[in-house]
Amino acid sequence: MRQKPIIARVTQIKDKRFELFIPAPELSDKISGLAQRINQDYAGLDPLFVVVLNGAFMFAADLAKFVSIPCQFSFIRLASYQNTRSTGTLTEILGLRENIAGRHVVIVEDIVDTALTMHQLVLQLQQRQPASLQVATLLCKPEAMQKPVDLKYVGFEIANRFVVGYGLDYDGFGRNLPDLYVLGE
Ligand code: IMP
Ligand code: MG
Repeated sequence: MRQKPIIARVTQIKDKRFELFIPAPELSDKISGLAQRINQDYAGLDPLFVVVLNGAFMFAADLAKFVSIPCQFSFIRLASYQNTRSTGTLTEILGLRENIAGRHVVIVEDIVDTALTMHQLVLQLQQRQPASLQVATLLCKPEAMQKPVDLKYVGFEIANRFVVGYGLDYDGFGRNLPDLYVLGE
């Protein structure tokens, strides 16, 4: 028999205690709303969603189920390494086989924190000359942002605190949690 999932108020991951922050039904409602906007904005444009692994896997899977227009998905990973001459971090895109030139591209990300990653990713994808390029992120931390990035679709703006669950990890753990948790203060 299918049981209604019980939402735990706290969860222990390794040495840290996390408190319930955004329960699954609230995540789902918000994601459905984002998808409806995308369905309208991209009708007739056959968008290509570029999902940033690993963190965005759950968000992307749920978003995909609410997107009802013809579209494609591609999954990338980002490798960052320190530039030897500057302190800036360079990002390399791994796994993008699609030619995105002339395509309407939507980057799907779990969280924009400092925005350093997203800033780099947008610059690099822009060079491949997509017809348009927008970002859908489940979460963003406005206070932590160090680079200006235009985020068209944002699920939740949150305070500058560490969160896990729903794809996001603490030291590799916690991605499987259906709800979002925040590190206890
Ligand atoms: P940014 O470059 O600082 O914007 O961060 C990019 C990446 O850091 C995100 O895609 C996440 O993978 C990770 N990250 C940032 N904040 C959190 C958090 O609160 N929990 C888990 N991962 C995070
Ligand atoms: Mg991420």
